[in-house]
Amino acid sequence: MFAGEARRLTTSLADVAHGKAFLLQAGDCAESFHDGSADQIRDKLRVILQMAVALTYASGVPVVKVGRIAGQFAKPRSSPSEERDGVTLDSFRGHIVNSEEFEPDARVPQPARLVEAYHQSVATLNLLRAFTKGGFADLSQVHAWNQQFVATSAEGQRYEAVAGEIERALHFMAACGIDLGAESSLHEVDFYTSHEALILPYEEALTRVDSITGDYYDCSAHMLWIGDRTRQIDGAHVEFLAGVRNPLGLKVGPSATPDEIVALCDRLDPSMTPGRLTLITRFGAGKVAGHLPDLIDAVGSSGHPVIWACDPMHGNTFTSSTGHKTRRFDDIVAELAEFFAVHRAKGTWPGGVHIELTGDDVTECLGGAESIVEDHLADNYTTICDPRLNARQSLDLAFLVAELLRS
Ligand code: PEP
Ligand code: CO
Repeated sequence: MFAGEARRLTTSLADVAHGKAFLLQAGDCAESFHDGSADQIRDKLRVILQMAVALTYASGVPVVKVGRIAGQFAKPRSSPSEERDGVTLDSFRGHIVNSEEFEPDARVPQPARLVEAYHQSVATLNLLRAFTKGGFADLSQVHAWNQQFVATSAEGQRYEAVAGEIERALHFMAACGIDLGAESSLHEVDFYTSHEALILPYEEALTRVDSITGDYYDCSAHMLWIGDRTRQIDGAHVEFLAGVRNPLGLKVGPSATPDEIVALCDRLDPSMTPGRLTLITRFGAGKVAGHLPDLIDAVGSSGHPVIWACDPMHGNTFTSSTGHKTRRFDDIVAELAEFFAVHRAKGTWPGGVHIELTGDDVTECLGGAESIVEDHLADNYTTICDPRLNARQSLDLAFLVAELLRS
């Protein structure tokens, strides 16, 4: 991507920092070399666009859309190895490094995967640009974003109702003589890419000096984030990202102290630029009130104009009795509700959400309106890393977040 696009995203994120917009960051936990098809990318985009419509329509707040997509291939792991039935192998680290099969050969890192990840990212970004600027994201297509298996569900019907109202509003404006064709914002969507900047030689190889400003930009994605496992103040990841001008995310888990986070804000956003830094908290349901208020106080007194976003996924992962890594929809909603409640009490803006989802009809997370139970997890469990919300659960969540935003 180009530096000017990253600057445009920073400008949009500054609106989020000022409480005038909301950030929706969503996509796969780990993109896969097995699913780069145009249909799969379209379906993922479509569910994110649906969520954005639900959020915007129900809350009245503009939504900045950022995908975990077109480069989200590298995974940090809690353990360097994995044991199954007495056999121990190196961990799977994402398709940019090795493969997920539980076999010794599959886990050997292969440098050629860096190049393959790059090519799949480029192809994905090219498709995203075509879909978002070439007619698919036209607001007159709101009905078409409702996939068959979503449209028949309760949340799909709720979406249909919103889509119908949007359509009537467009007809009304046209009837009043407003030239809808001239309004590009009705026909195109600004959609940005992001991933965790984990493999620094890869990120470095894609870093350029912008010819207009002379600043460094990491052109592998518009926005990059630092994971909860690599946010050491004297570590290489912080050092690298402090040197590029892209908007940044910083994951903040339960082990983070307020002093540490303020020091990271000083290092990553010394000029206190609104939109530069998003703190993505991921504590787990039941833990937000114990961690977030002190962080808000400390960052607030430091003067850093951060965006506060909630990742309700990574603090709520566990292994089911059937042996699947999973998450409960109710825990995800509970963490979000706690996040909104703390910000309401503090008078700060709950600026965004960070979600792992897919456009496919998977059974990876428990619950939701369709009540997926443990025995259903095996039906369509296709993730190569963390469990993702399916399209229905994602839309359901968007309506719940819209209600939290409105209240
Ligand atoms: C992730 O977002 O996929 C991830 C690994 O998150 P965290 O660094 O917060 O654990
Ligand atoms: Co994940």
